[in-house]
Amino acid sequence: MRGKFITFEGIDGSGKSTQLRMLASELRLRGFDVLTTCEPGGTPLGRRLRETFLETEETVAPLAELLLFAADRAQHVNFLIKPALENGKIVVSDRYADATAAYQGAGRGFDEETIKQVIRLATGGLKPDLTLFFDLPVAVAASRTTSRSNDGEKKNRMDSETFEFYERVRASYLKIAAEEPERFRVVDASGSIDEVKAKVLQVIKAFLD
Ligand code: TMP
Repeated sequence: MRGKFITFEGIDGSGKSTQLRMLASELRLRGFDVLTTCEPGGTPLGRRLRETFLETEETVAPLAELLLFAADRAQHVNFLIKPALENGKIVVSDRYADATAAYQGAGRGFDEETIKQVIRLATGGLKPDLTLFFDLPVAVAASRTTSRSNDGEKKNRMDSETFEFYERVRASYLKIAAEEPERFRVVDASGSIDEVKAKVLQVIKAFLD
């Protein structure tokens, strides 16, 4: 039996990675076979790519960035996501193709057709069964990422993007959510960790039932 493919999306600082870890533990406690993963960096090649093009101060051309996220995704889909789904697992990924539409499309300004083609090429058409978008105002997210980097967390090039960039990324996610209401659930991420966790569990329970 094919498993289920769930993705978490949000602007940086939305708290999705913490929620993903908590959801995976809850599901495992309930006996589900769960694989947690992330983009970029879900595979050994992806982790090396992530270091070279994201965790660097080198200027990266927007087209190179678009194609490197796609390369990471192609490797991820082939060697991790597809095999796990074929084995009946619940795969929960911290970001997937919607991030390319939001960040490289709306953020960097690539046109919709180019983005669609690159996504189709990288994923072979594999779409998530469910996507949770963790939504919160850009200013709140920015204050969370600042306190995270003060705590010594690894920085990446996206952390230095402007407020306007993140406004475009957020608006793009909300647009995709409105266009694909079957697949997308918008979760208000402005509450406490426990409040957001309760909402996530509610959404996942309804989906798995
Ligand atoms: P992370 O910090 O959630 O691991 O994500 C790394 C950064 O890469 C984050 O700022 C979002 C960005 N990103 C893109 O711009 N395009 C993509 O396709 C993906 C997967 C991530």
